[in-house]
Order: sequence, then structure tokens, then C-alpha cells
Amino acid sequence: MSDNLTLPAPKDSTGTAAETLLSVEGLTKHFPIYGGFPIKRKVGAVQAVDGVDLSVGVGESVGLVGESGCGKSTTGRLITRLLEPTDGKITYADQDITHASRKQLAPVRSEIQMIFQDPYSSLNPRQTVGTIIRSPMEVNDINPEGGREKRVRELLELVGLNPEHYNRFPHEFSGGQRQRIGVARALALQPKLIVADEPVSALDVSIQAQVVNLLQKVQQEMGIAFLFIAHDLAIVRHFSQRVAVMYLGKIVEVGDRDSIYNRPRHPYTHALLSAVPEVATEDSEDRERIRLAGDVPSPIHPPSGCRFRTRCWKAQDKCASEEPPLIQLSGNRGGHLTACHFPEEPTTEARDEDVVMDPALKALEQGATEVDAKVTKA
Ligand SMILES: Nc1ncnc2c1ncn2[C@@H]1O[C@H](COP(=O)(O)OP(=O)(O)OP(=O)(O)O)[C@@H](O)[C@H]1O
Ligand code: SF4
Ligand SMILES: [Mg+2]
Repeated sequence: MSDNLTLPAPKDSTGTAAETLLSVEGLTKHFPIYGGFPIKRKVGAVQAVDGVDLSVGVGESVGLVGESGCGKSTTGRLITRLLEPTDGKITYADQDITHASRKQLAPVRSEIQMIFQDPYSSLNPRQTVGTIIRSPMEVNDINPEGGREKRVRELLELVGLNPEHYNRFPHEFSGGQRQRIGVARALALQPKLIVADEPVSALDVSIQAQVVNLLQKVQQEMGIAFLFIAHDLAIVRHFSQRVAVMYLGKIVEVGDRDSIYNRPRHPYTHALLSAVPEVATEDSEDRERIRLAGDVPSPIHPPSGCRFRTRCWKAQDKCASEEPPLIQLSGNRGGHLTACHFPEEPTTEARDEDVVMDPALKALEQGATEVDAKVTKA
């Protein structure tokens, strides 16, 4: 963790500073690589996550975005303790859970849930929907008032599914409906934090907005905090009050939604915003488009200094020799931190126009908050 880092105070949807629910400091995961014959030994490491600082406030939604392979899922799995960190600290509700044992984790285990990308493989095909949603209550010995079945039926209704489909199997549902089952399962234990790892990426574009809407409803009405992992800045824009941009295992920029979308400073954030799909409009031709050359470098041998330098159009010698600290740049709002030696100028209102949403997601901006019962009820 860099010395000059100040973690941004989480804010709720009204912009008021919220109490911190989760914070990670210097979170690191290096997957060892073994080689050699006949005796295998460690020959290197995949530096999947390398010194991440992040916080999520009570009831807050934080987006974590970045290209494939930059360490988003690993971060999510570390936070939910599905993976053991190599280094760093995870604090949840004032408790250090970094290396907590299964037994020590038990009291908070139910409060932190995960929703996975693939609604097909994350549900057991041999179990009924009722069994799938009920099982977290059974494992944690939770007996809600009126019984578990009643609670499952309420959850099905809450996520826009027909409670009568309690005895159906996952294959009898569409992709969007299966993801709703995943959401109902995550809600079964009344969590305080949900780590949603690309929850809509596997879904048809026309269904994505409905599921994002559902998650938004859950976040706002039930006050559940979210770490929403996505490739795409367009999706988190509607859902997250703060956004963290990740590149090759590190957070390169973090800030409130307006700062990230309207006043981005890191070249990588500019490139991600520029890559958001746009629909043709009269002024499309005037818009600045940034194309990132090549792929994300290997996390086994990340570039020295700034990890983005091999693809950055502003890179200079200093970028190879000194790692830029994640700091608040002059002129930026409190909590808007950027890791760059030669940041871009904050973009004008034009950038706001530059970010054009997917047509399906546009429905969200137009206030389409109600779930389309016709499509979702099977
Ligand atoms: N169990 C593992 N063993 C070794 N390397 C791993 C393991 N899990 C992930 N990695 C590597 O760590 C890096 C980060 O992976 P991660 O899945 O966290 O990225 P991501 O940002 O979620 O990517 P995507 O957007 O494709 O899901 C990748 O290079 C990946 O190959
Ligand atoms: S530190 Fe240098 S290489 Fe890295 S993003 Fe900034 S200008 Fe580009
Ligand atoms: Mg992933």
C-alpha cells in the first residue's frame, strides 16, 4: 500500500459519507507457478492481484471494471474468502477476516454472498429451484418465520419469478431467469454485501437491463452493499455510486461516478470510456476514440514502473522506472484517486456524450425500474 494513499470515504446514493462495511488494504494474490524435473519447485508467480486498496460502505454499490485478466474475479474471490490472500488485509464490519478460519468466519459468512457470471454452471442441474434457494438456509441452520419454503416462495416473487415454479429444475428457465434464481439464492441469508462477478455478461443484451434493474432494486430497497464486477463501464454507470478501474492487478483510478465518467484522468479510464459501444448520432464523427493496442501483458512478468506503459500513448521514461502512486490529483474531488505520472486533462461535457450506452441499457436511464413481468414470469 502506498504511503500517500487516502482511501476515499464511501458514500451512499445521496452522496452522504457512509459507514465502511468492507475495506481491503494492500490485497495481493500471487498464484505460484511450479516447474522443473524431477523435483518441482516454484519458478515464478502469476501476480493476479497486487496491492489493491478498496472500500465499500454500508449499502453502497462500488463498480470494479477492467479488461479480461486484470484480476477482478480474483479480487472478488479474495474478498469472499474463496481464495486465501498472499498478502494484505481484509476488514469486514471492523473485524480482520484476512486469514480467518472457517469457524471464525461462520458469523460473517452468511453476510457476504457472491453472484457468479454463468447462470448455467452455477446452479446444480439436479436440484429443484426450491432446493437451490433453500440450501444456504439449511447449511447455516436458519429457520425463518413461517418456514423455509415460505421464505423461498417470497424470494422467488421478489426476484420476479413465479413462486409456483418452486419445484422446477434450472433447465426449465431462460438465462435471465436462472440469474434471478442466483440472485434469490444470494438473498436467502439476508446478506449485507454481495460480490456480483459479471452477473449479466453471459446474458443476452435484451435481458441484461432487466437483471441490472433487479440488482439495483435489491441494493436500494434492501440496503445491500455491492461490489459489482464488470468489463464494461456502461453497465456499472447505472448501478454504482463509486467506480474502481483495475489494470493488471492494480487499481489505477477510483472515484465517485461523476468523477470517473465526466472527469477521468487516467489514460486507461479514458480508453475504457472511449471503447463503450456507441450508437450513430450526428456528432459521432467528432468524438475522440481511443483504441488500445495489443492485449493486457502477462501478469507473470508485468511491465516495470507503470503497468499500463506498454499500451499508453503518454508514456515517458519515468513511467518505466517509477510506479505511479494512487493519489488525489490537483483539481480532483476528494476520493477521486489516480495512479499516473502524466494524467490526461479531465474531459469536458463532451465525454459525457461520448459514453453512449447499449440500447438495452438505455431503458435504465429512462426510468424503466419495473421488472417486465411478462418476460420474467415463466
Ligand atoms: N487459480 C489460478 N491459478 C493461476 N492463475 C490464475 C488463477 N486464477 C486466475 N489466474 C490468473 O490471474 C489473472 C487474473 O485473473 P482473473 O480471473 O481475476 O481476471 P478477471 O479480471 O476476472 O478476468 P475476466 O474479465 O476474464 O473474468 C489471469 O492472468 C488469470 O489467468
Ligand atoms: S504513468 Fe505513464 S504510462 Fe502510466 S498511465 Fe500515466 S502516462 Fe501512461
Ligand atoms: Mg473474471
